[in-house]
Amino acid sequence: MIPPDNYIVAQTANKVLLSMSDYPMGARASPNDYHKPMDHEEVGRHWDENAEAWTELVRAGYDHYRDGLNTPAFLEMLPDVEGLSGLDVGCGEGHNTRLVAERGARVTGIDISGTFVRHAEEEEKREPRGIRYERASAVGLPFEEASFDFATAFMSLMDIPETERVLAEVFRVLKPGGFFQFSITHPCFDTPYRENLRDETGRTYAIEVGDYFRRREGEVKRWLFSAAPPAARERLSPFRVPIFMRTLSSWLNRLVEAGFVLERFGEPYPGDEAVRERPGLQDAQVVAYFLHVRARKHG
Ligand SMILES: C[S@@+](CC[C@H](N)C(=O)[O-])C[C@H]1O[C@@H](n2cnc3c(N)ncnc32)[C@H](O)[C@@H]1O
Repeated sequence: MIPPDNYIVAQTANKVLLSMSDYPMGARASPNDYHKPMDHEEVGRHWDENAEAWTELVRAGYDHYRDGLNTPAFLEMLPDVEGLSGLDVGCGEGHNTRLVAERGARVTGIDISGTFVRHAEEEEKREPRGIRYERASAVGLPFEEASFDFATAFMSLMDIPETERVLAEVFRVLKPGGFFQFSITHPCFDTPYRENLRDETGRTYAIEVGDYFRRREGEVKRWLFSAAPPAARERLSPFRVPIFMRTLSSWLNRLVEAGFVLERFGEPYPGDEAVRERPGLQDAQVVAYFLHVRARKHG
């Protein structure tokens, strides 16, 4: 979903910090590096521009990390949702929302991109699963308090600014006893500086990481799925994805401060069989690319 380094084709200067190419390892941010932070509406405009190409590529099966690793592990960790009402935050074109609905839940998906919501709704019309979609921002959810038994967020939280507001909103709309399960790129390994170290056969044997403590507030990464064929890469512009990564302790402390009780964690990695099927997943055997967290609103 969100790119491990081998996805990245370019990284641009951004509204908060200089890009890594301008920002050598070990350098510290100076006050002059900071600009006005990107707000959620501006982030949404980036995503709306990404949405057509993203939908085309994921529906063609080119998000190998999602399909071969991240989503199957997320669903394995998901408690039984049969008969429950759920909210999927940052649902995109709805692929994972549909998988949750297929487990018997009544699901509502929200996304800030109208284009993603339109694609998700079209798929719902084509093959109904009882999913309701709305264009909405996670920083102001258009639902009453205690509306849902559970909430999910597949690879969206690190793409949304104002993390505290988002967590407070999810907490508010959950019923007492409800859970929130989300996936993000792993904060310890999706760092501003990262290099895949490869042996002579091209096999990744280590990932070099650094600059972990540099907070990223809207740094824009430009990339396309590495599995996309050359013809698609030539035709499509790279996605522009603003990211809002925090350190591991920052994510966990924010959940606790929002009132959640931490319940379960996952750091999925592919088995050899999965790598045989999709060789590009091999580097995800070396470190954890994704972090899964489940937290609960105790009643
Ligand atoms: C990496 S995509 C993940 C999409 C989807 N969850 C999936 O797994 O296919 C991140 C999503 O977050 C959405 N997003 C970004 N900011 C948002 C916000 N403030 N509120 C709701 N969704 C947002 C984007 O439009 C995008 O669909």
